Amino acid sequence: MSCFTLNTGFSPALRRPLTLRPSKYYACVNVDMRANQKPPSVHGKTSEEIIADEKKFIVGTYARAPVVLSSGKGCKLYDVEGREYLDLTSGIGVTALGHGDPDWVRAVTHHADVLTHVSNIYYSLPQVELAKRLVSVSFADRVFFCNSGTEANEAAIKFSRKFQRFSRPDDTNLPVEFIAFKNCFHGRTMGALALTSKEHYRSPFEPVMPGVTFLEYGNIQASVEMIRSGKIAAVFVEPIQGEGGVYSATKEFLQSLRTACDDAGCLLVFDEVQCGLGRTGYLWAHEAYGVFPDIMTLAKPLAGGLPIGAALVTERVAKAINPGEHGSTFAGSPFVCNAGIAVLDKISNPSFLASVSEKGQYFKQLLVEKLGGNSHVKDIRGVGLIIGIELDVSASPLVDACRKSGLLILTAGKGNVVRIVPPLIVSKQELEVAVEIMTDCLPVLDQASSK
Ligand SMILES: Cc1ncc(COP(=O)(O)O)c(C=O)c1O
Repeated sequence: MSCFTLNTGFSPALRRPLTLRPSKYYACVNVDMRANQKPPSVHGKTSEEIIADEKKFIVGTYARAPVVLSSGKGCKLYDVEGREYLDLTSGIGVTALGHGDPDWVRAVTHHADVLTHVSNIYYSLPQVELAKRLVSVSFADRVFFCNSGTEANEAAIKFSRKFQRFSRPDDTNLPVEFIAFKNCFHGRTMGALALTSKEHYRSPFEPVMPGVTFLEYGNIQASVEMIRSGKIAAVFVEPIQGEGGVYSATKEFLQSLRTACDDAGCLLVFDEVQCGLGRTGYLWAHEAYGVFPDIMTLAKPLAGGLPIGAALVTERVAKAINPGEHGSTFAGSPFVCNAGIAVLDKISNPSFLASVSEKGQYFKQLLVEKLGGNSHVKDIRGVGLIIGIELDVSASPLVDACRKSGLLILTAGKGNVVRIVPPLIVSKQELEVAVEIMTDCLPVLDQASSK
């Protein structure tokens, strides 16, 4: 008997397939899929057919899970056969308000009708409004908009170099190098890629931008010594490393970087592309440390699923940048920024942030209770709703088993960490269901490790 349901049709009103409710979990429901019977697709194509076409027509940059998603609501996603999944990935930390949040939908549909794109040759109100709001809730004085996390870091690289040139006009030996940290992830364009620690991402494309030193995350002495060398334009650091395996910085580490950067005249860049905007229960992850950057990069959740990136900067950084020195055709469109306003307004509400903290603590406690005793579980860590479960084996079999049971979660680190970054609107009951599924699936780790 199959784990999955037969879809019963498509509801134009709901804009999603009608599914039978699960008997126990979200995806495992009670309709028999007869042997050799293909599940009907709401789009006239089955998952299998779409996956085959993907393999034929899309450049093979992704090792995707074999699921073809077609709609979503809240924390639930539905595939083309109508199977329901509990989504604790939020599209890698993007759909913080879940799928189809009514305020977000209103903001998007309204502006699709009013004005979508004008380029940055002209002004538009939502861009200025979103910048104003970001400034009002952060350390920053000004905002540069772009379209993704990697672009936000690319902007931070250029701004750091330009800042040094601007602040030392007579210096013939400008500091142009960068520090980044082991396990960090800053993106895949050539500059941000040079700052990304995983060799595997960089080596096929070398030479990448030269002048980047990777230090141990948390190594104060090595960082301070390197910053004092006088060669460093900026230090890039994630207050919480996401992709690298959910590692949190210490206050002492970030504070030491701040002090050393100030003494040496180099910039401190916090990459909050993954950990920022409410993910930790603080609006910005660095708030928990009371240490503030010169530049903060943002992206993923900022427009609730539409492409956006931003580099938030202090006035002294902004002063170094002149018209024409950086830009983007698409960046800061009225359409995307209007969505960003809806997201920021919701997430920056103190009661929303408090709910993230509370749910995060509850979730972590449940995970420790139910999974902590398993011999494969080495650590359960994280803050708010960015949680990592470190295993002594590959996390993939567990992630795959959970997916087959209707729960979507991610891996991180060297593949041995389960990463959970749910929509911030996730309910306690959904978190309980997730823990139950993970607990039930844990035995796959025994099978995997005995192979
Ligand atoms: C911390 C961090 N910085 C930068 C990026 C790159 O963002 P994007 O994929 O939008 O270019 C990511 C993506 O995972 C990230 O986690």
